Amino acid sequence: MAFDLLLRNASLPDGRQGIDIACQGGRIAAVEAGITAPAGWVIEAGGLLVSPPFVDSHFHMDATLSLGLPRLNRSGTLLEGIALWGELKPLLTRAAVVERALRYCDLAVAQGLLAIRSHVDICDDRLLAVEALLEVRERVRPYLDLQLVAFPQDGYLRAPGAVRNLERALDAGVDVVGGIPHFERSMADGATSVRMLCEIAAARGLRVDMHCDESDDPLSRHVETLAYETQRLGLHGRVAGSHLTSMHSMDNYYVSKLIALMAEAGLAAIANPLINITLQGRHDTYPKRRGMTRVPELRAAGLTVAFGQDCVMDPWYPLGGADMLDVAHMGLHVAQMTGLDAMRACFDAVTTDAARILGLEGYGLHPGAHADFVLLEARTPVEAIRLRATRLAVVRRGRVVAETAPRTTRLTLPGRPEALSPAAYAPPG
Ligand code: FE2
Repeated sequence: MAFDLLLRNASLPDGRQGIDIACQGGRIAAVEAGITAPAGWVIEAGGLLVSPPFVDSHFHMDATLSLGLPRLNRSGTLLEGIALWGELKPLLTRAAVVERALRYCDLAVAQGLLAIRSHVDICDDRLLAVEALLEVRERVRPYLDLQLVAFPQDGYLRAPGAVRNLERALDAGVDVVGGIPHFERSMADGATSVRMLCEIAAARGLRVDMHCDESDDPLSRHVETLAYETQRLGLHGRVAGSHLTSMHSMDNYYVSKLIALMAEAGLAAIANPLINITLQGRHDTYPKRRGMTRVPELRAAGLTVAFGQDCVMDPWYPLGGADMLDVAHMGLHVAQMTGLDAMRACFDAVTTDAARILGLEGYGLHPGAHADFVLLEARTPVEAIRLRATRLAVVRRGRVVAETAPRTTRLTLPGRPEALSPAAYAPPG
């Protein structure tokens, strides 16, 4: 038989080399060495790394690419970012949000980022951002999986109308229940919001992903409540705590109990290293806290931990570019995950582990999975992170949707080679 697409001589993230991947009808038909059957389209990988697509488990697509509207964040704090977003919200138009989101998705596809979980603010009674991103979700569906989280940015109990608006957003087709307990008026209201939101998710059979304890407050305790409600309502495996930055500052004895409770509840954790390292610790003089949650300890306890991007050119973060290798690179540094297995885990945190948190169907490089993958200009996951490797080809459902030329620099140095490419570097053993 003839395949639609054959990718020849790839290295895989698990270390296998010389592997061919055959695709038929948008799915992977075979992953093995020495496939000889003809194919309509052949990609020569030349021993380079082929990975399943990058997955961003935490993003805000309603705010992306709005940097400078209506002004810049002067203090660089989370709270000024939220205030600034509040200034921008009444000025948003559906067309502008859709246009910015589609532009961002173009960028994402170019970077091999083919699945994104985006929070969408439901506190605006018009639900303008919700309608815009529901439209975007359908428009990008052929090339990108967009999962939406109903996010009460100004507080589920604190913002007038948020309780009703969250139900309206879910009725309209938003996929996941969000929350922001640390932004409610009191710890008690925060705990109540966690309980109410988890009950909604249980009743509707949905997943939960809450901004949880996104502060430097060592006494913030909402992730404990999130684990408790997950356990009580039997939501194991369906609930993620995002940010969890207060865990960085918590008492070590308390954390030793907390992490066990989180593991028992089957909670997943999503750290956002680029944002956590820049927004947290802003009230500190020196030493300044890093503010990222305890990634190695959570992983060691068996939790699934992903790295999200959170923000790109918006009220909270002026940089970013849909590059999940950038995110993995920062996560690796902030968590000091420089052991070989730890570095590989940082690659998983923006691919397979993130996909598990989203519950993506047909994700991976195995027969029967969607024919979605990325050919990187690197030979191993660690090298891909180190070089923020070029995405030479991005394949979605067996079709090439983006190509980028290899990175080459021409040198004119006496007695030295003329061309310098990433392949000139020796890969780690
Ligand atoms: Fe966020």
